[in-house]
Amino acid sequence: MTDRRPLVAANWKLHKTLGEAVALAEDLYAALTEDGEAALRDVDIVIAPVFTALARVHAALSETGIALAGQNVFEQDSGAFTGEVSAPLLADAGCTYCIIGHSERRQHFGETDDGVHRKLEALLRHRLVPIVCVGETLEQREAGDATEVIVGQLDRALGGIAPADLHDLVVAYEPVWAIGTGRTATAADAQAAHAALRAHLEGRDAKLGADTRILYGGSVKPDNAAELLAERDIDGALVGGASLQAGSFADIVRAAL
Ligand code: 13P
Repeated sequence: MTDRRPLVAANWKLHKTLGEAVALAEDLYAALTEDGEAALRDVDIVIAPVFTALARVHAALSETGIALAGQNVFEQDSGAFTGEVSAPLLADAGCTYCIIGHSERRQHFGETDDGVHRKLEALLRHRLVPIVCVGETLEQREAGDATEVIVGQLDRALGGIAPADLHDLVVAYEPVWAIGTGRTATAADAQAAHAALRAHLEGRDAKLGADTRILYGGSVKPDNAAELLAERDIDGALVGGASLQAGSFADIVRAAL
């Protein structure tokens, strides 16, 4: 890790009722502060609950410095779009971040790189920090195409947006074959992927490359987090399964200190 401020984000996916979500948020704050304020002071911590729990979790965490993220967003701000949630509504519910382009959305809901680009524009219009996910499938990795796939996804997501408008950008590298499988990329493989993503950002703009935080996601657990986070281009983690327990998520946050 470098002088980029570490960021550890929890993606709760489709889990937790209102009561469970508030309880987990409170337990998490307790677990993060049981040995002092260092974790909250030195790591940006972000939680992405389901939409229906956002406002309540926001209220529960409002004094803590823990930030809130949407798991997805629609590209338009309002209108006749039944079932969608927009960037201004996420901001209204207390979000300051939003995940876009998660592989589960690409896989199950047909999201495309162009769609991710339009979501990114919507987030920037409303000053929400985008967490843009990229990742290759096992088939693509085995064919030797991993780097080309993830750099292409990032390139198309960013499109022609000016680097100056991307100063808060967060990228998450999540190899699809490592998500929820217990199979993690080796630290060296993850570092290589992160370095390729950073090189792409540097090619767009030196400052964008130097400042953008690139998170690793895919079966991050307390026992592998430190090794991954020790790599120079891995600036944090996007955690699924292990974020559903306060103790294990807090341990991963501490590994980023
Ligand atoms: P797991 O940590 O459960 O593998 O999920 C990773 C992920 O998809 C986070 O967005």
